[in-house]
Amino acid sequence: MTDTPVLQARGLNKSFGAVVAAADINVDVPTGERLSLIGANGAGKTTFVNLVTGYLKPDTGDILLEGRSITRRNPRQITQMGVCRSFQIPQLCEGMTPRQNLLVAVGASRPNFSFFRPVGAEGAGEQVGELLDRFGIEAYADRPVSELPGGVRKLLDIAMALVRHPKVLLLDEPTSGVSSEEKFGLMDTVMAAVSSEPVTVLFVEHDMDIVTRYADRILAFYAGEIIADDKPDEVLSDVRVQRYVTGTAK
Ligand SMILES: Nc1ncnc2c1ncn2[C@@H]1O[C@H](COP(=O)(O)OP(=O)(O)OP(=O)(O)O)[C@@H](O)[C@H]1O
Ligand SMILES: [Mg+2]
Repeated sequence: MTDTPVLQARGLNKSFGAVVAAADINVDVPTGERLSLIGANGAGKTTFVNLVTGYLKPDTGDILLEGRSITRRNPRQITQMGVCRSFQIPQLCEGMTPRQNLLVAVGASRPNFSFFRPVGAEGAGEQVGELLDRFGIEAYADRPVSELPGGVRKLLDIAMALVRHPKVLLLDEPTSGVSSEEKFGLMDTVMAAVSSEPVTVLFVEHDMDIVTRYADRILAFYAGEIIADDKPDEVLSDVRVQRYVTGTAK
């Protein structure tokens, strides 16, 4: 056993012109944690996810996976090393079915993947079937993605991010676009689905009821800065968080 955090951000800075999207971000994430990223629109949550997954490069600072720097790696390498993500808007092949989307993801995760070899060999079908079952979306498996309800699309996108059994899974607004009645059911499914793997989960979320129920810890962002980093009760009672994030300040 090691106490090295699975993920560390050290002194991350990122600006877009005059906009500071990440301002000296320092975070240690222990293995197995459920960490929620909160903040108003434009606060820097997706920027943090993009920096960790290599979609953006920091102006300064370092990102470590199990103590090793991944800052200079490209997104594909970072995915292969075990940091996977879902997107604020699911990135799915609309004309294909969930089963076909998952088969492509499984095929692409195999070391000898080639676009010129058919996917579906070597147990890929079983892995896809198991994921469809674990995420409770078998009933939709063979319908075109373009016809699926929002919640099913979200679940499929997250299932695709789990194909590689990542060490770290980043979910950018897993419940956005889903009705408030459906949100808890969706998060229950996601959290149960990830609990069978030793994966650390970071999720961006705007709904504080969801955050309180599913997060061990919260990072609150404001103007690219982390203004609070603590257990949910502590963060949600912080005056700056109430003023700049939740709007509950008296
Ligand atoms: N590629 C980019 N080019 C220019 N500006 C960007 C880019 N990405 C983000 N920004 C800016 O950086 C700031 C932080 O954006 P970010 O997407 O990280 O916010 P967010 O917290 O995810 O917001 P939301 O809740 O709306 O998704 C915003 O002002 C945004 O306009
Ligand atoms: Mg965002």
